[in-house]
Amino acid sequence: MDGNGRWATRRYLPRVAGHKRGVDALRACVRQCGERGIKVLTVFAFSSENWSRPPEEVSGLMELLAAALGREVPQLNAEGVQIHFVGDRAPFSEKVRAGLVQAEAATAANQRLVFNICFNYGGRWDIAQAAARLAAQGVAITEQGLQGAMALGHVPDPDLVIRTGGEQRLSNFLLWQAAYSELYFSDKLWPEFDAAALDAALADYAARERRFGKTSEQVGSPAAKRA
Ligand code: IPE
Ligand code: MG
Repeated sequence: MDGNGRWATRRYLPRVAGHKRGVDALRACVRQCGERGIKVLTVFAFSSENWSRPPEEVSGLMELLAAALGREVPQLNAEGVQIHFVGDRAPFSEKVRAGLVQAEAATAANQRLVFNICFNYGGRWDIAQAAARLAAQGVAITEQGLQGAMALGHVPDPDLVIRTGGEQRLSNFLLWQAAYSELYFSDKLWPEFDAAALDAALADYAARERRFGKTSEQVGSPAAKRA
């Protein structure tokens, strides 16, 4: 979800105002995903590297998380959303950590949409913590073992990764899980990423051929059959 800061700066607003609008866009996006039958939505809300932003922006983002926890969880629960927080929780206050656990517990039985919020997350952190966990258990470090020990071990790898804001890079998001994901880059800033933008991304995805290392003929694509 990139582009909140630019959205605000273009309007002569403080960056935190952009993050607030980003929360609004996210609330709408969760609903749109549910309506479209998407089973898993994973968002990058705060990276391990975002701590190095100006202190007032970091504290603004922390306050937004705390406020959203109190405000949004009951509605998400009513909509059948199963919430997971993915990332290193160690730096958070006892109060915030308790809020994360509570939100997860309250929504654990929901089945409509699994909603992963990556907060203080980094793809490299996840690979390293998974390997450390396996090593501590004295078990062999295999692909399958790592997959299960990852903080996102409860969901399949993503089919589609969308980045807004015009930048074309992963920035330490889902490094392991995105091995075969389709990548989609939108020039829209995150607060402007609306239902039409989501549908454009899904239509683009639907037109792609996923081969997972095989040939077109093997995966039986319509294009190969016509040729
Ligand atoms: C949101 O967008 C990403 C978060 C860290 C919450 P940015 O804050 O990176 O926005 P830009 O890239 O400065 O526009
Ligand atoms: Mg950015």
